[in-house]
Amino acid sequence: MAADGIPAYGKTAASPGGTGKTFAGREIAQVMSWHGAAWLERAERSTEERPDLLLPLLPIRPGMVVADIGAGSGYYSRKIAPRLAPGGRVIAVDVQPEMITLLKKQIAESKIPNIDTVLATETDCKLPAESIDLAIFVDVYHELLYPIETMGCVSRALKSGGQIALVEFRAEDASVPIKAQHKMSEAQIKKEAALLGLQWVRTVSSLPWQHLVILKK
Ligand SMILES: C[S@@+](CC[C@H](N)C(=O)[O-])C[C@H]1O[C@@H](n2cnc3c(N)ncnc32)[C@H](O)[C@@H]1O
Repeated sequence: MAADGIPAYGKTAASPGGTGKTFAGREIAQVMSWHGAAWLERAERSTEERPDLLLPLLPIRPGMVVADIGAGSGYYSRKIAPRLAPGGRVIAVDVQPEMITLLKKQIAESKIPNIDTVLATETDCKLPAESIDLAIFVDVYHELLYPIETMGCVSRALKSGGQIALVEFRAEDASVPIKAQHKMSEAQIKKEAALLGLQWVRTVSSLPWQHLVILKK
């Protein structure tokens, strides 16, 4: 346990898809490689995840600055950005330079003007303090190799009243066809959020495969 009350990272035997590193009793998943980026753009995604249902559930409005942490190829960045116009922007953040390259290509092809990209590190989200209204993590939190450092950085980047939206595949639902390491239960999300000093606001479980958990500082 560190001085701030956050438990230290632990170790376990690495499971398939896992890192062997633990936080709060959960094995952290391996980062999804940019080699698999085509999966993020698959046509079936719109029926499997129903982004058309997710987007209206997000606390976003025109003029806001939204950080899409672990943006990958920008599937959600491109859907969120038009909803922030006029005046708002998406900051699409990722740790893999190759993802940032793919992201820039997708942004250029889509001609959406209000998306910026940021190359982060595993411990530094590279966002200025008090610069964002919302940070959204879609299918990302479970694979943060340093959740304490990343969430600390993102919390500092939130403006007063800013929120965090975690979208994770539901571990409670055995019918969701995703590897165990890449799912999270609502209870585990709430447990980790509390340890990280984040307050639970609400959970929405009406999406086909995922839950949306809104947190605040
Ligand atoms: C499963 S993909 C999801 C991509 C995107 N959110 C989507 O839903 O299409 C996870 C992404 O998170 C990124 N990632 C992992 N750890 C990260 C970190 N600490 N900071 C920023 N991005 C991270 C990975 O590089 C990868 O692109």
